[in-house]
Amino acid sequence: MIEFRDVGKRFADGTVGLESLTLTARAGEITVLVGPSGCGKTTSLRTVNRMVEITSGSVHLDGRDVAAADPAELRRGIGYVIQQAGLFPHRRVIDNVATVPVLQGLSRREARARAAEVLERVGLEAFAQRWPAQLSGGQQQRVGVARALAGDAPVLLMDEPFSAVDPVVRVELQDELLRLQADLGKTILFVTHDIDEAIRLGDRVAVMRVGGRLAQFAPPDELLAAPVDDFVAGFVGRDRGYRRLGFVPATALRLVDLPTRADANGSSGVPEEWTVLLDGAERPAAWLGPDGARHDLGSLYVTDDHDAASDGAGTLRGALDAALSSPAGRGVAVDGQGRYRGGVEADDVLALLDRGRETERSVARPGDTRR
Ligand SMILES: Nc1ncnc2c1ncn2[C@@H]1O[C@H](COP(=O)(O)OP(=O)(O)O)[C@@H](O)[C@H]1O
Ligand SMILES: [Mg+2]
Repeated sequence: MIEFRDVGKRFADGTVGLESLTLTARAGEITVLVGPSGCGKTTSLRTVNRMVEITSGSVHLDGRDVAAADPAELRRGIGYVIQQAGLFPHRRVIDNVATVPVLQGLSRREARARAAEVLERVGLEAFAQRWPAQLSGGQQQRVGVARALAGDAPVLLMDEPFSAVDPVVRVELQDELLRLQADLGKTILFVTHDIDEAIRLGDRVAVMRVGGRLAQFAPPDELLAAPVDDFVAGFVGRDRGYRRLGFVPATALRLVDLPTRADANGSSGVPEEWTVLLDGAERPAAWLGPDGARHDLGSLYVTDDHDAASDGAGTLRGALDAALSSPAGRGVAVDGQGRYRGGVEADDVLALLDRGRETERSVARPGDTRR
């Protein structure tokens, strides 16, 4: 069991990563933290293994305050899976997986035997002798999961582990995690920005909003049936009731101006704000962050693809996806040729969705027989 009690994190530069998080991830369950980029999901996760030291409140693992634990020892009892799998490129798959048992004090031979067992569990035994670069993205993520399982830790922290793989493989990985969990019954804290993934995987789901605040914590069916406010309603509803809302044109979405820069000049100076790097054909190539590093764009919002049959492109859903998956907190919009058009704000999309929902309510009311 993982308990967050009034957990606050203020970073050295004054940024509030978490305001006052209180929630309990029950033993043997998958607890999902979901919310837009920057809402404090990763920070929450890292307070558990003390990769982030909190500034107020406390975090308890099976009743024990993690602040009192030795960090190295604490981490040996916690599996950790991250988005890019984090595999060592110069170690074969089997040795990557054996890393954790070796750290735990097993001999190399015992550790390899353990690694082989876990690889079999995730169906990767044939890949044991390969190098990470020889695997697909989905296979690398499975090795990442295998490595976390190899330590036999009762607690797993998973930070957007499936976000970088394509949608089909992603569903396979989700199924596999559910299958493994049915056998293993770990206490899993899982972070994602994708509400569909949260609802599929979570026994309980915590919806977070920017500023490190918890909006609602409930089992998925309750979240869907009784969202506590418009933010949660918009967030959980985006792929369900709203699919019908053809009368909310995505064309009503306001595009905002983002700072841009030619990609070739990307390295000349650290920007004050998140800046889109454009290639020679005006197509977005990457974000340049205020940290001076290049970051993935996240999913793009295609503005002028209004083909009703296309799923995501040109729709409010596509726009919201772009905003939520972007590290900058704002999504990048492109035209049908992939050229930069502007930025999208999640708040604008949610406001449009709300407007649609109000209309839907007023349409539904005359037929409502309740008094
Ligand atoms: N080391 C840091 N220093 C300053 N601010 C940080 C640091 N790490 C994260 N933040 C900020 O804390 C907030 C929450 O970040 P994070 O937990 O990474 O969000 P998420 O995982 O939900 O995208 C963001 O505003 C982020 O910019
Ligand atoms: Mg994160």
